[in-house]
Amino acid sequence: MSRTRTSDVLVIGGGIIGLVTAWRAAQRGLATAVADPEPGGGAAQVAAGMLAAVTELHYGEQTLLGLNLASARRYPDFAAELTEATGHDLGYRRCGTLAVALDADDRAHLRELHALQQQSGLDSQWLSGRECRRLEPMLAPGVRGGLRVDGDHQIDPRRLAGALVAACERAGVVFHRVWAERLAVAGDRATGAVTADGTALAAGQVVLAAGSLSGRLAGVPRDVLPPVRPVKGQVLRLTMPGRHGPFLSRTVRAVVRGSHVYLVPRENGELVVGATSEELGWDTTVTAGGVYELLRDAHELVPGITELPLTETRAGLRPGSPDNAPLLGPTGLEGLLLATGHHRNGVLLTPVTGDALAHALTTGELPEEARPFTPRRFSTATALTEQPA
Ligand code: GLY
Repeated sequence: MSRTRTSDVLVIGGGIIGLVTAWRAAQRGLATAVADPEPGGGAAQVAAGMLAAVTELHYGEQTLLGLNLASARRYPDFAAELTEATGHDLGYRRCGTLAVALDADDRAHLRELHALQQQSGLDSQWLSGRECRRLEPMLAPGVRGGLRVDGDHQIDPRRLAGALVAACERAGVVFHRVWAERLAVAGDRATGAVTADGTALAAGQVVLAAGSLSGRLAGVPRDVLPPVRPVKGQVLRLTMPGRHGPFLSRTVRAVVRGSHVYLVPRENGELVVGATSEELGWDTTVTAGGVYELLRDAHELVPGITELPLTETRAGLRPGSPDNAPLLGPTGLEGLLLATGHHRNGVLLTPVTGDALAHALTTGELPEEARPFTPRRFSTATALTEQPA
């Protein structure tokens, strides 16, 4: 028998982006529901949680940098508010980051990054190899130089996801622990979604925040379907020794022979090593090759990691977009908004996404800082995207 449940806002997808949207919407007095079989799951269960606006800067992504920095600036208050609302410790560590180079090519790459950071008015400091090792004694003797970025911090994404579920519950968000199978459209507006058992989840506005799955929801008209694709990342978790001072005191990262590798040390002794970046569709297999490459590159940076217990290997799917930036806010279909395509920056962009979507849901418009990320910038691209059967 089909039933109907009604809310002001239905968020499809209960990963950190969907949850922060729902939390912020509920705080603004909107009756909000989330559809997801496992709220708090998704890419955040794999992600390392670097808040790396400065060290992950790339040529051609200066507009995205503005949004990344806006979100990084919000993090201290956001984390404090979420902890206050839930009592959860988020593992938010203002530890900074050291990006290092192992050979002449890596050093040239890092010099270019440093120049770009300086042109962009960002804080980063060039260090010799010796200065890098003074900061992080576990670094390999071969480290040839590095960039010290004291403003790139970290949070534990699993704790963040758990806290957002709790915050949503406390704010009165209703969880439908099922997948929305199809967007409901009546005339020329979105009116909710329908689940596998035929339940109609009616809503005044719908936010599609299903991460890498966002481009697959049935019923979304082709010209507003987000051009989001899965980008696989394999990630390892190890345990650092608790004795003899910190194994690493800050995030350490490098490009080794063209591949990014990073080591994120948590206060609780977990060391996260990531990540591959693979265009393999929906595959989430952990492969011997992926683990080998991460361990090989991480070992070149920090030889002592081979002594540590390897406690977890896992792969997740980043929601990649054509310009590596998110799709935020109203679409060409009345009543349908997007919060997806965050690619490598989902954890960093969580605070600003929640604020931007809450603003859009209550005023119909994105705030100034989020306007460049309107999904309408892809209206031609989406028209070319095939709608899945
Ligand atoms: N931001 C790190 C990653 O996507 O691997």
